[in-house]
Amino acid sequence: MTGVICGTGACVPERILDNNEIAEFVDTSDQWIRERTGVEQRRIARKETTVSMAAEAGRQAVKEAGISPEDIDMIITATATPDQIFPCAACEVQKELGAVRAVCFDMNAACSGFLFAYQTAQAYIASGICRNILITGSERLSRIVDWKDRGTCILFGDGAGAALIRAKEGKQYLPFACSDGTGGAALTCPGHAGDQKTTSHISMDGREVFQFAVRRVPEAVREVLKKNNLKTEDIDWFVLHQANRRIVEAAAKRLKTEIEKFPMNLQKYGNTSSASIPILLNELNRSGKLKKGQKLILAGFGAGLSWGASVLEWGI
Ligand code: UT7
Repeated sequence: MTGVICGTGACVPERILDNNEIAEFVDTSDQWIRERTGVEQRRIARKETTVSMAAEAGRQAVKEAGISPEDIDMIITATATPDQIFPCAACEVQKELGAVRAVCFDMNAACSGFLFAYQTAQAYIASGICRNILITGSERLSRIVDWKDRGTCILFGDGAGAALIRAKEGKQYLPFACSDGTGGAALTCPGHAGDQKTTSHISMDGREVFQFAVRRVPEAVREVLKKNNLKTEDIDWFVLHQANRRIVEAAAKRLKTEIEKFPMNLQKYGNTSSASIPILLNELNRSGKLKKGQKLILAGFGAGLSWGASVLEWGI
């Protein structure tokens, strides 16, 4: 038994904040941001919340999968920016969707959140405990961004993505995941997003995180390929966490694989943390680029430090 993605969805806020607007309040430029990161604009939540975006993305995924909300056994919401401490965002998503039978919990592994939620869902399916699992990655990072810090505020954006994973007969691929708490100081946000009194912001050693990503992402891809007896040539798409165009390009180069197999949408949304992989997956799915039977690698990395990769066969 394995889990196959049968539906995807995404929801991003209406408000677009482009680089020129950011250059009005911090010392930066559109050119610098494009050249160093690839980001051109990002979405900023106004009325949208972590839950409302996750619920909308989830609704789309459930609809595409052709199941009813009562068929969902589990909802996992990956987020580092829940609207409140509890009830968890996943329970709120359950309420919005009417997924009355689902067991729900959140997962915070920052930018690796969606990948770890995917791997957790696969484990629950492989064990026979669940048949239909909705995983969402949803973030309102604009609430924890320091809008005076040009080193970080240019990078991040808000949004959500979702995937409905369904049990099917088929090959089970082994996951690869790693954490290193000793490196955690490179990327932190000490307070809680829901705590209005705390002026806690994302703080990052950009160069250190950059070097970590460039080393660990190709390593994770190689590890997961080895575990599953596959080669880079066997993979049709490498869906990486969207943090910086230069990180994606460096990963492609180190893996000696053409950049065309590494789709990107960070130019439109910036780094949306746990939402970046499912938003990209949904775009690829909805545009018809993904063909049934193609092999994909999902690779995440971020605060923790944490990183990992999974292989999957596209099933829609
Ligand atoms: O989801 C995972 C989380 N994060 C990441 O993956 C981020 C990883 N890191 C990065 O993407 C890059 O390190 C950044 C985009 C954050 C920074 O790019 P960089 O090429 O590593 O720049 P840098 O930090 O080495 O700074 C180079 C220069 C510095 O000036 P000096 O010291 O050379 O005079 C910075 O002060 O660029 C300056 N700088 C800026 N200039 C204009 C830093 N940010 C900006 C800015 N606009 N926004």
